Amino acid sequence: MERIAAEDADMVLFSGDMTTMSLEGEFRDAAKAFAPLYEKWGERLVAIAGNHDRYSPRSVRQQYFEKHFPQAALPEGRRVFSRQFGDHVAVVGLDASRPFMVRSNGLLDKDLERELDHELEVIGETGRQVLLMGHFPYSYPGQHPGKWHHRLLREGTLAGLIARHQPAAYLHGHKHVRWCLRDARTPQTLCLNCGPAGMSSSCPDSHAGWLTFELSQGGALTGITKVSLLPEGDLQREAVTIPPQLPG
Ligand SMILES: [Fe+2]
Repeated sequence: MERIAAEDADMVLFSGDMTTMSLEGEFRDAAKAFAPLYEKWGERLVAIAGNHDRYSPRSVRQQYFEKHFPQAALPEGRRVFSRQFGDHVAVVGLDASRPFMVRSNGLLDKDLERELDHELEVIGETGRQVLLMGHFPYSYPGQHPGKWHHRLLREGTLAGLIARHQPAAYLHGHKHVRWCLRDARTPQTLCLNCGPAGMSSSCPDSHAGWLTFELSQGGALTGITKVSLLPEGDLQREAVTIPPQLPG
């Protein structure tokens, strides 16, 4: 978190899983760890809950996420939000995390589908470039297939909404490896997985780190970079080859 706080960025997006079992003590620790980031970026730090942050029905009932991350809390009954940045960009976030306990699924139910569709429609009419942010992938690279008990249920519906509204990028986490891909169902949208912010692995893409990118006024993502924290504490930065636009 110290290394993230030292980064120079216009905004910081955190796509969930700040805890493991959504225990209140974990949320307390996470809030402490995030405090310097909120201090630096304020409303330009956008966070959503991951499945681990809604691990148990009790944690949802007790609203631990909302209590310890009030900046990320949504009004009662809402699962979708948008924040506008400058004159050209909007971040739209969706919360598909539900307490499945021993499984790691998310759920895009019909209400969430309708809410997201409406929000993307409204934001689309403003002409802003949209960065859509969720916790779960809907598309996986061949070498990292998603297992059924780890996937977003009704993920095809999310792909359909993205195909229709064409956000510049879909930003997510959940699978502990950084990647950048384009899905044939959503050829206008780059899918970026930021990977784990705080895990340990011998593979740099699965070790603690994040992704950075630039966004042009025309909505093109450029300069996508994988950043990994090396064991000795240095940061490794690796430019990502952006997959070309697919016909469609
Ligand atoms: Fe997750």
